[in-house]
Amino acid sequence: MNLARILKTPLPIVSTKLLFCRALHVPLTASRLPHLHRKSFAKVTNDDIKQFEGILSSSRVLCAEEDIAGHCTDWTRVFRGTGSIVLKPKTTAEVSEILKYCNNRNLAVVPQGGLTGLVGGSVPVFDEVIISLSLMNKIIKIEPLAGVLVCQAGCVLQRLNDAVAEHGMTMPLDLGAKGACQIGGNVSTNAGGIRFLRYGSLHASVLGLEAVMADGSVVDNLSTLRKDNTGYDVKQLFIGSEGTLGIVTSVTIATPPKPKAITVCFVGCRSFADALKTYASAKASLGEILSACEFMDNDSMSLVKKNLGLVNPLGESYPFYVLLETSGSDGSHDEDKVTKFVEAGSSFENGTLTSEPSKIKNIWSLRENIAVALLRDGVQHKFDISVPVECMYDLVEIMRKRVHGLGAVSCVGYGHLGDGNLHLNITSRERIEELDNAIVPFVYEWTAQRKGSISAEHGLGVQKSQYIHFSKTPPAIALMRSIKSTLDPKGILNPYKVLPIE
Ligand code: FAD
Ligand code: MLT
Ligand code: ZN
Repeated sequence: MNLARILKTPLPIVSTKLLFCRALHVPLTASRLPHLHRKSFAKVTNDDIKQFEGILSSSRVLCAEEDIAGHCTDWTRVFRGTGSIVLKPKTTAEVSEILKYCNNRNLAVVPQGGLTGLVGGSVPVFDEVIISLSLMNKIIKIEPLAGVLVCQAGCVLQRLNDAVAEHGMTMPLDLGAKGACQIGGNVSTNAGGIRFLRYGSLHASVLGLEAVMADGSVVDNLSTLRKDNTGYDVKQLFIGSEGTLGIVTSVTIATPPKPKAITVCFVGCRSFADALKTYASAKASLGEILSACEFMDNDSMSLVKKNLGLVNPLGESYPFYVLLETSGSDGSHDEDKVTKFVEAGSSFENGTLTSEPSKIKNIWSLRENIAVALLRDGVQHKFDISVPVECMYDLVEIMRKRVHGLGAVSCVGYGHLGDGNLHLNITSRERIEELDNAIVPFVYEWTAQRKGSISAEHGLGVQKSQYIHFSKTPPAIALMRSIKSTLDPKGILNPYKVLPIE
């Protein structure tokens, strides 16, 4: 690959801010999923409302329909519940009092962060009390020498990244929803995202955590220590448990140094095999400076163009695109490495390379806005599977044939190539039963046959709870049930989510 063939094309600026549109009619989750039946929880009474107003204040207890509607429908507009009350605590003590009261009254609750979750976990299924963490948004401390941030759970990820950047640090995670998602939601879903390749899982980056249990007791594990082997690491229970074991109220996150030099390379490939070769050679020649490796197929590129007006910077179409990012502490060292990688490249046909922040942002927006573009199509079938990377894209090709003629609008594949994590997405203008039946459980069966995970990053929520057995053994599920019943004996915390209904 000759460096001269790498184009330095100017790109239009596109906002990565999430587009919310709640106008579309969303059927009630419980009317669509027949296995769901309301459990015998109490219903919220006027007396309960008075009690909540006593704990908070009337301005932080929302009961008017217009204030609640937006809290009952999820980002994908696939899930909707009939919640009648939203509570907005500001302190851990308030969360504790709320949960103590709800547990005694047998009122079910749903913790809610930025509402960007993609599996229906953050909205009620029936009439659960919604506990929004959005007012718990204090940054408690930033320690540059130790490289840690301590903050309340309701802080928005983008704001945290901006705050630690002022101290020469960065957040160890980044995702398309950064402008709306909260760190408590990220931790509770164990969100992966585009920096996973460099910084790994939140199971490692979360150094400490404070959570309120179902009965209102507070587990204060808000350590800033990097090393601590005193007994069981209980904070891990709350990471990725989607609000079913406790409400995360504060976290300590390890914040690595902010890279001084970032370069993004966006290349077009003739085949998925070539995309994989590109990843392999990037790993070999970029080594420690490779910080992200994402891919998207041409249908994803056409979709962001059609639905959002984004422009392909390569000028012409390729079956696959790979986005590589390098970040390091020495620009000229990194440039040298990237140049050698590009010159040696035989697995890609064309590409663009840039270190300019606005162009970097534009290239990332192509990849990060695929989810937003899909939303414009209508009904979503979203998947976040992980399988051996060599067979990852086979599923998209199989599904295209399988759903042909059944009313699908888009069937696209993109994802975190470096993590072996495929996002298969199929959309339709309206819900079509025949299409639904062609997709699920087939996708999960295919994944299980390859010993993959049916959820690499978004979690199970209400969408995938009934399918957990495709990725976990009966003893593992039994152990999860026993943890759940120990920590939440009445099952008030985010019921109907994660564990299958028996
Ligand atoms: P919510 O959606 O409000 O809640 C998610 C779950 O966590 C729910 O079960 C809820 O009950 C629970 N919860 C929320 N806050 C708390 C708390 N404080 N304590 C206990 N439980 C809580 N995910 C990835 O992994 N990688 C990606 O790259 C990625 N990209 C995305 C891009 C877009 C455009 C969108 C819309 C979503 C994306 N996601 C991604 C999904 C991801 O799960 C969320 O964006 C994010 O982690 C959820 O945070 P939130 O604050 O919005 O949580
Ligand atoms: C992404 O990687 O873009 C997100 O996980 C969202 C999605 O799956 O669409
Ligand atoms: Zn993702």
